[in-house]
Amino acid sequence: MAEASPLYQTYMRAPLRFERGEGVWLITENGERYLDFAAGVAVNSLGHAHPHLVGALREQADKVWHLSNLYEIPGQEKLGKRLTEATFADRVFFTNSGAEALECAIKTARRYQFSKGHGERFHIITFEGAFHGRTLATIAAGGQAKYLEGFGPKAPGFDQVPFGDLEAVKAAITDETAAILIEPVQGEGGIRTAPAGFLRELRKICDDNGLLLIFDEVQCGIGRTGKLFAYEWTGITPDIMAVAKGIGGGFPLGACLATEDAASGMKAGTHGSTYGGNPLAMAVGNAVLDVVLADGFLEHVRDVALVFRQGLAELKDRFPGVIEEIRGEGLMLGIKAKVPSAELLQAMRDEHILGVPAGDNVIRLLPPLVVTAEDAREGLNRIGLAAEKVQTTLDTTARI
Ligand SMILES: Cc1ncc(COP(=O)(O)O)c(C=O)c1O
Repeated sequence: MAEASPLYQTYMRAPLRFERGEGVWLITENGERYLDFAAGVAVNSLGHAHPHLVGALREQADKVWHLSNLYEIPGQEKLGKRLTEATFADRVFFTNSGAEALECAIKTARRYQFSKGHGERFHIITFEGAFHGRTLATIAAGGQAKYLEGFGPKAPGFDQVPFGDLEAVKAAITDETAAILIEPVQGEGGIRTAPAGFLRELRKICDDNGLLLIFDEVQCGIGRTGKLFAYEWTGITPDIMAVAKGIGGGFPLGACLATEDAASGMKAGTHGSTYGGNPLAMAVGNAVLDVVLADGFLEHVRDVALVFRQGLAELKDRFPGVIEEIRGEGLMLGIKAKVPSAELLQAMRDEHILGVPAGDNVIRLLPPLVVTAEDAREGLNRIGLAAEKVQTTLDTTARI
């Protein structure tokens, strides 16, 4: 009943009402079970109602919910220490969302240049197909016309070039450039992996030109590609990185990570957030890391990813009229459809398996990282049934 709803009509919502979740499953009000290979768009990294996360949240809820950042918050120190020990970073700023983590990353880069006497350097080079969030700065960074239209002048200082085009990057650098911002694996853009060689070249370009390299690992971070962060596959490190989604396992939490040098301009009073780093989020974030950093967890992600990807490749061979390509890394996979992807996604939903639409006619498959090989096979079975139905419809239409 769209007209009767008090809500902004900004979402194209599927007519599904989930009441609860159990691991990789979501259960509707009517008791129907759906295999959740969307995971809140890579958010429910440990599935639904993971006992360790539920326990951590309950325990913290009994102590204190909110503390102002005017006081020390031990959970922030603990999570910050674990994140810096596990990454290139020396400093962390906690946020509540991905877009806020990006805002912090952009501000950190601009402020770095300012503090080195280069206030004129505020431009950030970004890439076509990017998605960095829905704030005024992050829609400018993402550069997608459909998200910018009607919201006034695009925030200045974002120069976009084609994804993977090194010459275009070099040509876009001016005396006003501060940084380069890229998702190592584009999510919304259609599960497009930036080749490791390309990212290494970006690192070199940044070093040669006094620019900072910013990675947006909001979607591809926290174990999604089989390493804690996707940059670990490349042999290089960024100066600044935005993280969110999986780090909170479903609790709103983001973080901006930076080296000591890159963060050097962010002095007292330059940035802040009322809720960023609140005790509830810190309790859950620490609990997520307990699991993701445990021995063998990322190996498990890589093992299941292999099973899933091989199975998807087999489905592509079985249904060449429906599936054009399988893309992605680890458990961040995409089916590029030959038919309109919405048709395949609907057929999948009819088989009670959830995926996520993306650009470039791709369906994203982002199961919780706790998915087992057996769950993956169940998912493959359902995607296969969906592809078969779409194929049959195609064959029937062709005969008519
Ligand atoms: C790569 C990337 N960056 C940033 C964001 C924005 O995150 P949020 O919606 O939490 O603001 C998203 C969300 O989909 C994302 O996928």
